[in-house]
Amino acid sequence: MKIIAMTNKKGGVGKTTTALCVAACLGRRGFSVLAIDMDAQGNFSQASGAKRETTGTFDFLNGSPPQSCIQKTKWYDLIAADARLSRAEKEFSQPGNELILKKALTRVKDYDYIILDTSPSMNVLTLNAFTAADAAVVCCQPDVFSLSGLDDLMKNISFAKAYYNKSLSVAGILLTRYESRTSISGRTAEMFKERAKELDTQVFSTVIRESVAIKEAQMRQCDIFEYSATCHAADDYQSFTKELYLALGGDKKKWPKHFPEPSADDSPRISIPRQPRKRTTTMRRR
Ligand SMILES: Nc1ncnc2c1ncn2[C@@H]1O[C@H](COP(=O)(O)OP(=O)(O)O)[C@@H](O)[C@H]1O
Ligand SMILES: [Mg+2]
Repeated sequence: MKIIAMTNKKGGVGKTTTALCVAACLGRRGFSVLAIDMDAQGNFSQASGAKRETTGTFDFLNGSPPQSCIQKTKWYDLIAADARLSRAEKEFSQPGNELILKKALTRVKDYDYIILDTSPSMNVLTLNAFTAADAAVVCCQPDVFSLSGLDDLMKNISFAKAYYNKSLSVAGILLTRYESRTSISGRTAEMFKERAKELDTQVFSTVIRESVAIKEAQMRQCDIFEYSATCHAADDYQSFTKELYLALGGDKKKWPKHFPEPSADDSPRISIPRQPRKRTTTMRRR
């Protein structure tokens, strides 16, 4: 079992999108996957079409049996966040509470992968994710603000490693929302590579290109491979997931070849109401 935390203290950098796409890709390849939404905003849960008024991450951390917290989606199991998770900071403020996720996970069955989607802050939930994880994936948009926030984040990860989880590693930095048509993304990517070397980590060779299909898939609550298996983002997340699998020690020969084509029952879980058509003609006079 490998536990992977998607992280960055900045919001809007593709943590949730990466967690969704990696969970769906691994699930489609035949791995057993549990995703845990560790962000009170619940974007992962929402995009998965999960019920949010039911038992979820908050209860799981509070000791509820895993089977009462897990919802099934087509390709992965999910422990969904609900608004009560925003009380976590108050609720789990005792010393030692950075260990509650790790302890709770000892009660779940042996999944191949557990994917943790974290919030954009270094709160008790994120610290729990670092304490439980084997590897962190640092999601960054290729811009200078993300670059300047990188050192601070790596310090937080080193702190968690030193005090709570010796086996935590940084699998690498994933560049997301990459604008391949502009040269600035390329130049910033080079800066990330240099900084990564100094920080003793790597930038994944796959970058995730900006693709409107990502937003559309999330709006329709279906994964990117259902929505448009041939768009840039689907291609990029396919190759990133394989790269991550190998980076975490997966055997190249055992990477499952089969990837199911989208089928009729893959259709979006919700339909988006069409905008009423604007009347362009003037009202006919009676
Ligand atoms: N590769 C991409 N192309 C286009 N939009 C993206 C891409 N990745 C993420 N987004 C969009 O950017 C926004 C923030 O992404 P999200 O994954 O929620 O970031 P975070 O979890 O870090 O806050 C969302 O609206 C998402 O749909
Ligand atoms: Mg998010």
